[in-house]
Amino acid sequence: MVNRFIQEVRQHYRRPSESIYLIETAMFGNERQFINNCLNSRKVSTIGEEVEQFERAVASRLGVKYALATSSGTAALHLGLMALGVRSQEWVLTSPFTFIATSNAILQAGSQPLFIDIDRTTLGLCPAALEEFLTKETEVDSSGNCYHRASRRRIAACLPIHVFGHPANLPAIVQLCQQYNIPVLEDAAEGLGSSISGQSVGTFGSAGVLSFNGNKIITSGGGGMLLTNDETIYQKAFRRANQLKSSMNNEVKEVSYNYRMPALNAALGLAQWQHLDQCVQQKRKLYNWYADLFGEFKVQVMQEPPQSYSNYWLQAIVFPDQQQSDIFVRKTNEAGIETRAAWKSLHRYPLFNHRFHCSLPHAEWAESCLANIPSTIVPNA
Ligand SMILES: Cc1ncc(COP(=O)(O)O)c(C=O)c1O
Repeated sequence: MVNRFIQEVRQHYRRPSESIYLIETAMFGNERQFINNCLNSRKVSTIGEEVEQFERAVASRLGVKYALATSSGTAALHLGLMALGVRSQEWVLTSPFTFIATSNAILQAGSQPLFIDIDRTTLGLCPAALEEFLTKETEVDSSGNCYHRASRRRIAACLPIHVFGHPANLPAIVQLCQQYNIPVLEDAAEGLGSSISGQSVGTFGSAGVLSFNGNKIITSGGGGMLLTNDETIYQKAFRRANQLKSSMNNEVKEVSYNYRMPALNAALGLAQWQHLDQCVQQKRKLYNWYADLFGEFKVQVMQEPPQSYSNYWLQAIVFPDQQQSDIFVRKTNEAGIETRAAWKSLHRYPLFNHRFHCSLPHAEWAESCLANIPSTIVPNA
């Protein structure tokens, strides 16, 4: 099976001997024009008009009132958590099967992740596990705050993730969180172009976050965006992202950041934005191709969950056990084709709190049995 995979992937990418990577940034040819226009305007920093144009384009397509372009997705997560009122010594409910940025942002906001298991069909936060945790381990006090009984700490937010672009079950998660007065911030860093029953991911919670890092479905070189329909959240995040520039010095009471996206990055983002549909179609085509190939070997390729439309940003295959996954990853890398075992579950990192987390059998399964395979698209193919 491994040899056949190597041969087919080499043919697909038309690279008989060169290395093939997990994701290479696709360029579409219009990028220079956008960047040159920005250079010619000489407004290359955060006040250039491309920043607002990019925000307007994303907000209008995704159907949200406000979009705030930031220097990274992690910065947008940090701003989003602070705007939701997350403070130090509080919990943020999240799942551990993700890139470390999600939980890093929680620490940056001064709080701690409390890990809840994933659902195997979405790889995102499992609504049933969330419900069990909320029912058995929390209580809502007379002022409406939800507390974790064992630690007596407030649960300040819930941060579900759309893993590899596959939508987590946001309708169920948001409904549960509403019952416990917990605001939801969606980590849709990998999910631009994905939706649930026609609604874009990143728009279900109180706020959502996108990333435009070089490996994402489209890129601005580096950057992110905070999405929300709530003016207060937007205003708080906007002020904090701009070093409170609009405030009088004697009014400054809180720490702020230089988190805005520069216009040069927004120009690249706008150029790539024109090709978002093409990127999603290509990624979906790649999934179909892999599904046929791996069908012959009786290996499952991660598929979009029911009622969902996935951008298939990063393809993943599911092995019956870790040994088979390890052998596949080792042999393909030896042959110059980059594959990798999916993330180590974050609850294993010493950085994160170990005293309180739920049992995480499905996150551990994902860590052992999932492997990511080359997911670069070939423009205009
Ligand atoms: C799930 C997830 N969350 C957050 C981030 C952070 O985004 P950025 O790299 O733009 O800071 C990334 C990707 O990089 C990610 O994959």
